[in-house]
Amino acid sequence: MSYLRLSYTAMGTLGRIITKTSQRCKSQRRLDGRVVVVTGANSGLGRETVLQLSLRGAKVIMGCRSAETGEKAMNDILLRNGRADLIVLQVDLSSLNSVRYFAEMVAQKVNRLDILVNNAGVMNTPEWTTADGFENHFGTNHLGHFLLTMHLLPMLTKSPIGRVVTVSSMDHMAGKIHLDNINLRNGTYKPFKAYAQSKLANILFTREMARRLGPYSRVKTYSLFPGIVATNIGRHADLGAVGERVAQTVFLSPEMGVQTTLYCCLDEHLDDESGFYYANCQRVDDMLPTATDDKTAGALWQLSSISEVTRNVTKRTKRYQGNRRLDGQVVLITGANTGIGKETAYQLSLRGAKVIMSSRSLERGEAAMADIKLRNGRADLIVIQLDLASLKSVREFVQIVGIQVDRIDVLINNAGVMNTPEWTTTDGFEMQFGTNHL
Ligand SMILES: NC(=O)c1ccc[n+]([C@@H]2O[C@H](COP(=O)([O-])OP(=O)(O)OC[C@H]3O[C@@H](n4cnc5c(N)ncnc54)[C@H](OP(=O)(O)O)[C@@H]3O)[C@@H](O)[C@H]2O)c1
Repeated sequence: MSYLRLSYTAMGTLGRIITKTSQRCKSQRRLDGRVVVVTGANSGLGRETVLQLSLRGAKVIMGCRSAETGEKAMNDILLRNGRADLIVLQVDLSSLNSVRYFAEMVAQKVNRLDILVNNAGVMNTPEWTTADGFENHFGTNHLGHFLLTMHLLPMLTKSPIGRVVTVSSMDHMAGKIHLDNINLRNGTYKPFKAYAQSKLANILFTREMARRLGPYSRVKTYSLFPGIVATNIGRHADLGAVGERVAQTVFLSPEMGVQTTLYCCLDEHLDDESGFYYANCQRVDDMLPTATDDKTAGALWQLSSISEVTRNVTKRTKRYQGNRRLDGQVVLITGANTGIGKETAYQLSLRGAKVIMSSRSLERGEAAMADIKLRNGRADLIVIQLDLASLKSVREFVQIVGIQVDRIDVLINNAGVMNTPEWTTTDGFEMQFGTNHL
């Protein structure tokens, strides 16, 4: 037997031993009627997680950097589970705008969310910068997921079993949070150092979030190490043909690699615990001091929080100082169920205006109206359904507005879509032109 052949056989045996000693998630919990979001769902652990959770009856939203690879992965999964209930949505975690848009799309597609699996990750990339100027590992692996979690938290809080599961790595042990140079600038960048920092950030984020939510919250948080798994994560490390063979033979299969993720998503024994780190379907309690450092966890949270991320923008943004009131006047705002439209409706209601809020979905419009009324009990609001991607809907909307009010003083054309796939409106126009302009 040749030396290479012998090595492969030995590796095969080692691989089988590793797989044998790997625990499986034993929970029988089903997820019928539940909704899960998985990031990085087109490849490796993410794709397998989607398959396994779909087999338990969950509807899964697959967050994928590219809609094309996402759809390919969805078709692969459907071949293995023809009854899988899946939706692919595009998200680039290295762009905070893309994350915000994705969260909005999730809220539009589903009316509940039970589990968020922050799985996507990059490892050992060159010194790249995200769209918002952050170091690529920190920006993608930590900050993108931090922002996504913050945006999806209101939906998760409504679930009886809200869980945030973040895939970290044992490489966190080599990590340090460089609070004074989080982007590892000035010649201090090393790919593995950046990866390890981001994976430590995943653990501290999980811990700090659990602390902030407190023991009575219905949302629980978990971080985990999946094991060493044969996936595409090493794409930036040139392993060579032998290295690839080692990886395929010795490393865990994706099916075994997702067992701890499944454990954190499902296991009934974890219903009442939050903030911990798991490996091989068990809680790990002998953590390094860097991974239980609550002071650093708090400082990292501050640094990551949306106010910090947007602080520079907020600082430069001037506040409108005028005192004009709008009593007796009618304002019409499109896309008023969320974001800037909803805030505009609220602010103008405070100035006494009657506000007509248009919303693509009546249900979400009414939820937004209820939120505004909580903040301003005297708000005079009307919600009317309007789909700007349909000229028929626009015409019907105008008619209903005419019945409801006899004057309009201010019209705010606020609704908009961004970076959609190549969709067309019901009238056959390109989606962004049709909706935002036409
Ligand atoms: N495999 C292991 O041995 C191992 C060990 C410890 C921890 N982990 C962790 O496990 C997680 C999953 O990795 P994997 O092993 O399954 O590797 P993978 O096969 O490379 O999958 C990574 C996923 O993340 C996605 N992703 C990367 N950057 C993104 C971005 N900017 N926006 C949206 N999605 C992005 C990738 O999308 P594209 O395909 O479009 O790039 C891909 O779907 C990672 O967090 C990793 O750190 C893995």
